[in-house]
Amino acid sequence: MSKKILVTGGTGYIGSHTVVELQQKGFEVIVADNLSNSSIDVLDNIAAITGIRPLFEKVDLADQEPALDLFNRHPDIRALVHFAAFKAVGESVADPLKYYRNNVGSLLNILMGMHAHGIRNIVFSSSCTVYGQPEELPVKETAPVQTAASPYGNTKQISEEIITDTSAVTPLQCIILRYFNPIGAHESALIGELPLGVPSNLMPYITQTAIGKREFLNVWGDDYKTPDGTPIRDYIHVVDLAQAHVISIERMLEENNQSRIEIFNLGTGTGYSVFDVIKSFERTSKLKLAYKVMARRPGDVEKVWADTEYANRVLGWKAGRGLDEMTLSAWNWEKKLASW
Ligand code: UD1
Repeated sequence: MSKKILVTGGTGYIGSHTVVELQQKGFEVIVADNLSNSSIDVLDNIAAITGIRPLFEKVDLADQEPALDLFNRHPDIRALVHFAAFKAVGESVADPLKYYRNNVGSLLNILMGMHAHGIRNIVFSSSCTVYGQPEELPVKETAPVQTAASPYGNTKQISEEIITDTSAVTPLQCIILRYFNPIGAHESALIGELPLGVPSNLMPYITQTAIGKREFLNVWGDDYKTPDGTPIRDYIHVVDLAQAHVISIERMLEENNQSRIEIFNLGTGTGYSVFDVIKSFERTSKLKLAYKVMARRPGDVEKVWADTEYANRVLGWKAGRGLDEMTLSAWNWEKKLASW
């Protein structure tokens, strides 16, 4: 039986780490990516880690014809991991159609391609952003989905709904993974997060400040109702996250899933503040980070962290890497980038 897995967005941040973990488990990986926010060189770095260069298809999955053609050329794909999507919250507010076309359009084409060839299994990359500011912490998968605060967040909610509706009337089955805050990089420092332009996320902004690309970190508010005043998030090491995708693929291929749609929160279960992350970075890098406390960033929630009990028990997955391992690996990656 074919062990061919299509990873869309496979040259991206989480995608590339997942390709490595899949290959190391013996899966044959095809990467489809339009390289709009990633580099082809990532494939060489994946090959340097695993010894295998994945087959690469440069395709914009939001374009129907090439997307369906991809499936015609690889009808023996067993399962997909779908990462290909835009993810910048601010940009999605400024250009919503770009986000709906890309994030929703490519999902529609993928589901049509899967249906045409009887491919049943897909892992979908979702986000804890669907919970907004939850009333109860830690957040369980049963917590209500709240009105999205941005078009980006809305594309994740709509995508979950499209998948669920489709699975009700076709053989489609899906594991939806709602990520908390993925940070860090592979221990080899050969792959990591490569933000284009000025990063909006915390970890790349910290490492770029430390390497000298940015003057100082803006800490967006220290007047929240949290112990040190800065917002709390559930940061999770990208390699732990990647491994959850492999487990999800195996779960569906072995028909161990308990329903056609399963949803899991992926976090560590521990919340850390912005100052906690800065302190961890200073500890592991042995540097002092320049930062200034500024006004709150619009749209930021105060605190959110995952209830991991369901993913631990049912998916059989647990994040093992701690905050210091996350900040150190992110720093090693930034230093490696500077040396290239
Ligand atoms: C954001 C998105 C989320 C998306 C995720 C991954 C929002 C509201 N949420 O999560 O939907 O899935 O990115 O792309 O945008 N911070 C600073 N200074 C900075 C950057 C961040 O203080 O320069 C703080 C933020 O206020 C926040 C924390 O660091 O408290 C984490 O921010 P970030 O890494 O951007 O992630 P989220 O906002 O949690």
